[in-house]
Amino acid sequence: MSPSEATASEANPSEATGHVAALGGGLIGRSWTALFLAAGRSVRVYDPDPAAEPRVRGAVGEAWPVLQQLGLVTTDDPEGRLSFCDDPREAVAGAGFVQESIPERLPLKHELYAAIEPALAEGTVVASSASGLTLSELQQGWSDPGRLVLGHPFNPPHLIPLVEVMGNDRTDPGVVAAGRAFYESVGKVTIEVRREVPGHVANRLQAALWREAIHLVEEGVATVEDVDTAVSSGPGLRWAVMGPTLLFHLGGDDGGLATFCERYADSFNRWWDDLGTPRLDAETARRLVDGLAASRPGDHAELVARRDERLAAVVAATHGSDDGSR
Ligand SMILES: NC(=O)c1ccc[n+]([C@@H]2O[C@H](COP(=O)([O-])OP(=O)(O)OC[C@H]3O[C@@H](n4cnc5c(N)ncnc54)[C@H](O)[C@@H]3O)[C@@H](O)[C@H]2O)c1
Repeated sequence: MSPSEATASEANPSEATGHVAALGGGLIGRSWTALFLAAGRSVRVYDPDPAAEPRVRGAVGEAWPVLQQLGLVTTDDPEGRLSFCDDPREAVAGAGFVQESIPERLPLKHELYAAIEPALAEGTVVASSASGLTLSELQQGWSDPGRLVLGHPFNPPHLIPLVEVMGNDRTDPGVVAAGRAFYESVGKVTIEVRREVPGHVANRLQAALWREAIHLVEEGVATVEDVDTAVSSGPGLRWAVMGPTLLFHLGGDDGGLATFCERYADSFNRWWDDLGTPRLDAETARRLVDGLAASRPGDHAELVARRDERLAAVVAATHGSDDGSR
């Protein structure tokens, strides 16, 4: 029986019991904090950097209008529900759910887990945002890792709906299901990663596409700018609406996916045989940086603002409250 099929654990963190503890208030932690507050939760943040508190408060203020626009704000007064702790044990005591988003360094994560484990209430689920570290590596920091799951978001977590949730045979029954229920209660879309692989699911998909994008640039097939345009003005638009297999089902017309596979098997097999396998070394990085600079992408802050504005519009269209996908 997989952890998600088992009975839910005693305390269900999707119920509005207990606060949420956000460990780490950096790029990812502050975005999570804004989302949890929007969903009406009280959030206690622990981050040893004294600059974290103003940064988190600023990020919540900046995120609020777009969260309102997306219909994700259920209760106002985020400031009244946001507090900061000097000790991680204080942040997690009595929490229904803990989201750990500290730097991607294993000894640091282990040290924090060892500090908080004795302070956790029964039934509290702890999720790590870790992108590169595996669940079994993270589990080494616990005496009993039964309550720990991977809860991997996409940047920025307050806008991108997906969270990849993973447990394994050391995870207690019901904990993956409870984690998924919590994320869904704050407006996220979850998938379960059923086997440990580096990069989970979505980062591997990104890596596969970027590998070929780099190969096309290196082979002189197209510029960095044109390869980016080929994605964002082409299939990227469709992928925001449906996944690749469902889209190809429609590409088979009335015959659906079976017809599509029959018609295009030779083409895909030929393309797959021809795909490149570049390495991301210093020389490749330099070519990409130069290629991007040639397209004059513009000021960093303006690009972030443009990305978030367009992203919010796409998320509203594809995952908004009347869309039914949430
Ligand atoms: N950046 C991304 O695109 C992205 C996307 C998904 C997941 N993640 C994952 O999220 C996690 C955090 O990444 P980030 O980009 O927010 O990093 P970051 O460096 O921006 O933030 C980390 C924060 O943790 C704080 N911190 C350091 N030690 C701490 C401790 N012992 N306890 C509490 N806080 C501590 C730091 O002061 C900092 O504010 C990583 O595991 C990363 O892999 C990152």
